Amino acid sequence: MSVTTTAAPVSGSTHAPGPAQASWRGLPAAQQPDWPDPGRLAAVTEELAGLPPLVFAGECDVLRERLAAVARGEAFVLQGGDCAETFAGATADSVRAKLQTLLQMAVVLTYGASVPVVKIGRVAGQFAKPRSRPFEMRDGTELPAYRGDAVNGFEFTARARTPDPGRLRRAYHCSAVTLNLCRAFATGGYADLHQVHAWNQDFVAQSPSGQRYERLAGEIDRALAFMRACGADPEELHAVEFYSSHEALLLDYEQALTRTDSRTGLPYDTSAHFVWVGERTRDLDGAHIEFARSIRNPVGVKVGPGATPSDVLALIGRLNPGGEPGRLTLITRMGAARVREVLPPLIRAVIAEGIEVPWVCDPMHGNTFEAPSGHKTRRLDDVLDEVQGFFEVHRDLGTHPGGIHIEFTGDNVTECVGGSHEIAAGDLHQRYETACDPRLNRSQALDLAFTVADRYRTRP
Ligand code: PEP
Ligand code: CO
Repeated sequence: MSVTTTAAPVSGSTHAPGPAQASWRGLPAAQQPDWPDPGRLAAVTEELAGLPPLVFAGECDVLRERLAAVARGEAFVLQGGDCAETFAGATADSVRAKLQTLLQMAVVLTYGASVPVVKIGRVAGQFAKPRSRPFEMRDGTELPAYRGDAVNGFEFTARARTPDPGRLRRAYHCSAVTLNLCRAFATGGYADLHQVHAWNQDFVAQSPSGQRYERLAGEIDRALAFMRACGADPEELHAVEFYSSHEALLLDYEQALTRTDSRTGLPYDTSAHFVWVGERTRDLDGAHIEFARSIRNPVGVKVGPGATPSDVLALIGRLNPGGEPGRLTLITRMGAARVREVLPPLIRAVIAEGIEVPWVCDPMHGNTFEAPSGHKTRRLDDVLDEVQGFFEVHRDLGTHPGGIHIEFTGDNVTECVGGSHEIAAGDLHQRYETACDPRLNRSQALDLAFTVADRYRTRP
């Protein structure tokens, strides 16, 4: 099936339809839905291939340069958002709360660690999930597992759980709405540094991290007033650069959004600025790695505790054979208990080849467990410990701890335990709302940002 041959070029855009014969087709593609009607899938992807790109190739190129600066040790990545976005969550309030939290974290890092922060949301496209089991059993009934709103519904009914290609269209439109809000928040005055107090307003009184943030915001205010008094009011303070990202899991969708950039003639996945391949789909000879290889966006790969040095070198060889700085980011997710033991051999192998990559720590996915109540959860202490281990390893090897990749939300959910505004295991039921993995709430996300800023600042 070809998704792009009949699609008309997008008028007024610099992106023509991508190559008709995608090189990943025919390779084993893990974690793809069992779409009941391939004809409908083809019709939807063909329609998507004719819709406008969500991001532009030139923006992806700027992000690649920013990530190259991270690899050189000159900047730090803050990447985060929901484990799984939902269509219902594509609202102004929910997107604003996430952006607000990300901006607050970024300010804590920029000010606390004196480092430029590359802000990448796990937003505007994170609608599909790999699952450990294809089916879910409840009270003797077995149904297909929920694979994200782009595939099927969360509700445990045969109707909701049947994969529906029409959901890919909704995923595109929800991504567009969300990205539009993010762009407006980032550049339309809301992200102006002079708003540093306003981001905290609805939050400060209830939480120790909110109060700590308020003190930092006060210091920033004084610094801004000082600069203004000196006659300096740089443009950079009035807006932020913000990038979108998600896991490139549903290859039919990603391919439909892949277009040829008219400047360079090269294919870009215009569904997001940055896409990554997950731990479960990073088979070297599989379709996902081939798809990532075939696009020009900056890409990431998740690397878990089972990865060997030769796996990592092979991934680099496949995805960044020319050693282009910022092209490939390695996102490690080892677990607090193992990071100090399993990360060093991987880093040593990469250094030995003379390669510089942004090393980003995902301290979430290696630290998930089931609470006695049955909720899937994470301890903030484990998250902090994995980050601490990540910093120790990089300090010992003389490499740059390039960033963090986290799952958080702007709302006061109770999904992870711990934090300065303590959530106990018995509290989890109060506001457990995630469609997939447990997320840090706003207070926990700020706790993490303060810890990361301290670790970064006190590096040798
Ligand atoms: C995720 O990021 O939600 C995810 C599934 O991660 P991983 O590929 O690291 O397991
Ligand atoms: Co997750």
